[in-house]
Amino acid sequence: MVVLTPTVLPPIADEPLPPSGAGLPTAEQLDPQIAQALALVERMLPQFDQWFPAPSSESNIYSPIDNVEWTNGFWTGMVWLAWEFTGEARYRTLGERHVSSFAQRAHERINTDHHDLGFLYTLSACAAHRLIGSVEGRDAGLDAARQLLARFDPVAGVIQAWGDMRDPEQRGRMIIDCNLNLPLLYWASAQTGDDRFADAANRHLARAARLLVRSDASTYHTFYVDTVSGQPRHGSTHQGFSDDSSWARGQAWGIYGFALGARLSGEARYAEIARRLANHFLNRLPDDGICCWDLIFTDNDETPRDSSAAAIAACGLLELADILPVSDPAREAYGRWAWRIVAQLGQAYLAPMEGSNAVLLHGVYHMPNKAGVDEACIWGDYFYLEALMRLRRVWRPYWL
Ligand code: GLY
Repeated sequence: MVVLTPTVLPPIADEPLPPSGAGLPTAEQLDPQIAQALALVERMLPQFDQWFPAPSSESNIYSPIDNVEWTNGFWTGMVWLAWEFTGEARYRTLGERHVSSFAQRAHERINTDHHDLGFLYTLSACAAHRLIGSVEGRDAGLDAARQLLARFDPVAGVIQAWGDMRDPEQRGRMIIDCNLNLPLLYWASAQTGDDRFADAANRHLARAARLLVRSDASTYHTFYVDTVSGQPRHGSTHQGFSDDSSWARGQAWGIYGFALGARLSGEARYAEIARRLANHFLNRLPDDGICCWDLIFTDNDETPRDSSAAAIAACGLLELADILPVSDPAREAYGRWAWRIVAQLGQAYLAPMEGSNAVLLHGVYHMPNKAGVDEACIWGDYFYLEALMRLRRVWRPYWL
């Protein structure tokens, strides 16, 4: 049972949870879908043995890249999930090789000047430490956590998302995606007994709840805080439709990130925020349950879906279901919604065996930049696999 401490909730709209129209999955339903997903992961192995998949595909094909992007940990996370599903030694061997690559990357500071160290190291080095007791993984995770902590601005109370800490354009800028980078800091405190990591994560999470979540339970993608006065400046988007719309993946990062934040900080208000963000998200889905790339769009708009946001949201709904009291009827309802989304992804969004090297098609990386539009996104593949793991097993997520 998860015991959370009651804390003060900012004023945020509480929309009703729409009916999912789905039941909970059986093992007979899940097992073929898992087998299909694992076949697609296996298909990636020969090409992504030495290299990593690019963040998004081109014409549904990922190019091979070095360990230099913010997204490399998702492939390693898929390798660890495949190892947990199958127990096959080749996945463990590859995962261990990746840990050395991530250790070198942290040590040499290869493109580590951003907050996505959490995505990178939680799913690779920290997962290896959890699963196989990798000391190299623990050391690499702590190296990355120290670099992430150095991005915390104590006056603004936020972790700066991007760029050099002296860059006036980026100083004090936080983004909703960072909620998924915070688990690395909580992990580092648990490993070392040094509270500075968790204290920074707690302060960032409190700022995210106040500044990134709007009163109608939608979210800003990014928000600027003055680093001299500590005063909030303004919200804006980076990958969404407009500054005041809700970028679908941002809302999904919010659902999952606040649900994890509730468990990691022990504060009940974050579970409540995750619930309200989830209801806002679910009330804006097209009929097939897979969001458009920005929640301003609905069924009637001719615009791409973002399957990756759907997969993240499904994991968030399952985490939310997990932290609600067993007596709460919404617990099962969020599980049913997660299954409806995952079932639909499996039916209509999976890559074919020929002509692609991805798992999930029809994601959107960066619409304003016209990058990775209606393409596979490697984090979508990871979260689809994680959602299947969560639905099938009692499983401790790498984030916790
Ligand atoms: N964290 C960057 C993205 O979701 O595209």
